[in-house]
Amino acid sequence: MTVAVLTSGGDAPGMNSAVRAVVFLAASRGVPVVGVERGYQGLLDRRFRPLTREVAGGLAPLPEVSVHGNLGGSMLGSARCKPFYTPEGRAQAAKNIADFDGLVVIGGNGSLAGAHALAKEHGVRLVGVPASIDHDIGCTNTAIGVDSALNTIVGACDRISDTARAHRRAFVVEVMGRRSGYLCMAAAVATAADAALFREAGRSEDELVENLANLVRRSFSGDREKQRVLILKAEGVEVPCTRLVRRVQEHIGDELEAMGASIRATVLGHLVRGGPPTYQDRAVGGRFGAVALTSLLAGKTDVMTAWSPPVAGGEATVDRHVELFGLGEVLDETERLLDGSSPVTQARVKAMARMAGVLAL
Ligand code: F6P
Repeated sequence: MTVAVLTSGGDAPGMNSAVRAVVFLAASRGVPVVGVERGYQGLLDRRFRPLTREVAGGLAPLPEVSVHGNLGGSMLGSARCKPFYTPEGRAQAAKNIADFDGLVVIGGNGSLAGAHALAKEHGVRLVGVPASIDHDIGCTNTAIGVDSALNTIVGACDRISDTARAHRRAFVVEVMGRRSGYLCMAAAVATAADAALFREAGRSEDELVENLANLVRRSFSGDREKQRVLILKAEGVEVPCTRLVRRVQEHIGDELEAMGASIRATVLGHLVRGGPPTYQDRAVGGRFGAVALTSLLAGKTDVMTAWSPPVAGGEATVDRHVELFGLGEVLDETERLLDGSSPVTQARVKAMARMAGVLAL
């Protein structure tokens, strides 16, 4: 028996910890592991490399697996692979992987949708592991990378707050999150930001500008005399940061100048995806990797590991925090999460609405 493992989509700190767990556990059970380079693209190009080797008395992980387990990025490389989204691409991938007995797919919602199709159409035995800094995957209370990204955002906002206070400035800071505003919401609370702007609230550009102008004016004026105003904006809010700031300036630029204040924009971008995984992402990645491997060996397929699920219906595993959900169910819940009909999204938006008045104080 041989197991293959790949990382796909946007990289996330902790992916390597999951790979390490798969490889170490497999080696301890005498199962060789092969790494697929650059996600599904590597499946199509047959870019495979061994991650275990034979040693006296059994199998051992290659040294790079251990070293990279504590690092961000992906030691196997990652990619968004367009040809894999076609039936022909998946048929080719299934053919190329026929020599292996199971596949662990570590990635975000696009990658998990690809895995589900591969399992359904070609009977490939596979287990998915959720990895996406965006926290945009259904049925799981966290995904690999979320905690590290939040820690990076919090650190960056602390630094921006230092310079903001020195100059009496408002900053609009954009954080990643294409369709999910979770990073923005969670970081806004943790940094005591003054406001959070996320797609799920459904505000028009004019509303955003007016609310921002009012908030900034109120914060710097009268007896409040704030020294720093921090507004977190999710990438999913389509108005670019610089445009928001320019429009606020057009509204209240003169007033700001009179108060000795100003406003700037910063886009954190890919900075948020890099860096070493936090303790939590190493632990979650490791525990997901271990459950993915044992589940594959136990004959499970077309399922995903989930952390302390917010919805019922998962299958218990040896790890009391990790349950298994069918990938079909995960993808349905992911869609609801992103279109706002999931109770999980609704609870997030409600909690932020309650917080808005507190943050603005
Ligand atoms: O991995 C998720 C994510 O970081 C999103 O937040 C972001 O919109 C996207 O990936 C960026 O993708 P790319 O690195 O391909 O530009």
